[in-house]
Amino acid sequence: MKIFEEIESEVQSYARSFPRIFNRAKGEFMWDEDGNEYLDFLAGAGTLNYGHNNPHFKDILLTYIQNDGITHGLDMHTKAKGEFLQTFNDKILKPRKMEYMVQFTGPTGTNAVEAAMKIARNVTGQQNIVTFTNGFHGVSLGSLAATGNSHHRDAAGVSLSGTHRMPYDGYLGEEIDTTEYLDKVLSDSSSGINSPAAVIVETVQGEGGINAASVEWLQNLQRVCRKHGLLLIVDDIQAGCGRTGDYFSFEEAGIEPDIITLSKSLGGYGLPFAVVLMKPELDQWKPGEHNGTFRGNNLAFVTAKAALDHYWSDQTFSNEIKRKGQYISDRLDQIVEQYGEGNFTAKGRGMFRGINCVNGEIAGKITSAAFKKGLIIETSGADDHVVKFLCPLIISDENLKKGIDIVESAVKEVCAKVDEIPEEVQYFQNG
Ligand SMILES: Cc1ncc(COP(=O)(O)O)c(C=O)c1O
Repeated sequence: MKIFEEIESEVQSYARSFPRIFNRAKGEFMWDEDGNEYLDFLAGAGTLNYGHNNPHFKDILLTYIQNDGITHGLDMHTKAKGEFLQTFNDKILKPRKMEYMVQFTGPTGTNAVEAAMKIARNVTGQQNIVTFTNGFHGVSLGSLAATGNSHHRDAAGVSLSGTHRMPYDGYLGEEIDTTEYLDKVLSDSSSGINSPAAVIVETVQGEGGINAASVEWLQNLQRVCRKHGLLLIVDDIQAGCGRTGDYFSFEEAGIEPDIITLSKSLGGYGLPFAVVLMKPELDQWKPGEHNGTFRGNNLAFVTAKAALDHYWSDQTFSNEIKRKGQYISDRLDQIVEQYGEGNFTAKGRGMFRGINCVNGEIAGKITSAAFKKGLIIETSGADDHVVKFLCPLIISDENLKKGIDIVESAVKEVCAKVDEIPEEVQYFQNG
């Protein structure tokens, strides 16, 4: 189909990695126009934790539409929104003893991040937000200022301000606890870092290369925030909604963020939806101060509620994610050990995993080889050097094994080709 070349903008990205015309999807599978089947280990960049066209929500959504339920409701009270809020409170917040107000933002992750940073600034009266190396929070200007990646930052066209960058966990080596540095600069009136409003952090950096912060680091980060009066914002847009094993990615660390952003898989069915959760005392918004036409995507409220009812009424789903996450981890450890003479490392948490490659070229070759074998899998990281495993959480054991087998054979193929290159050239390629 030539129309894509004719009039679709050059800004496309995933379409370049997977140049097919897709027209059907179910669970962990997608099919292209020619009927070729692909296992989907990209899952809408973390939006399809419950798979494509999940049968547990589909009929509920179809019935809602059939009955002329509200589709677009601005921020008006609707039955669908009320039922979502009730279920979210009953199944997610209350069992975790979490008391938060829920703000419906525009339906993209970046809009939730913008709102979270505005709240922090307005409530504290401070401008700057501490952000971390390799962090990714979206591409609208406020979120972009918090994002590390220069490819995205360079597109801003204006200077990006209002943030201080700090080293993330592991950035300076495994032995160094970078929260000590944060503590030090916040304690020093001459450090050049003037009382920031907040810290924004991902517990596992997705786009930044599947860097998982340790539980201790997250606890220390909270301690430093409390000590210096900074609000703690956890951006759980990609790591949340079950990806790491618990509903929220920070549960294992036992921390209590002041503000949380959620989007991506929140809507359950891949429908756009984002929220900010804030401690009640922070909810100092004036009516409509942060608005947006699409804050009321009622179709997403319906499927979000269905997802909570079906998957989050007890521990079963969470246990399953942890079991599958362990399987992925074991398999990746084994692949890393077997191939590439130690040039690969495995990383991540739960079902949010990656294989770190020496450079983006190798990672790209692995994902391209995997695609030829019927697996959709992407890279992430500063140089696209991490093969990123993001399969739907509902994937069957059989297909999980099948997908990892494909990656393994792609790694084997790419390593065999690298071995054919003379050693001096390999040395230069690996830097
Ligand atoms: C942690 C995190 N925050 C924010 C965003 C931005 O979300 P969106 O692309 O929906 O604006 C992303 C997107 O990948 C993300 O991973």
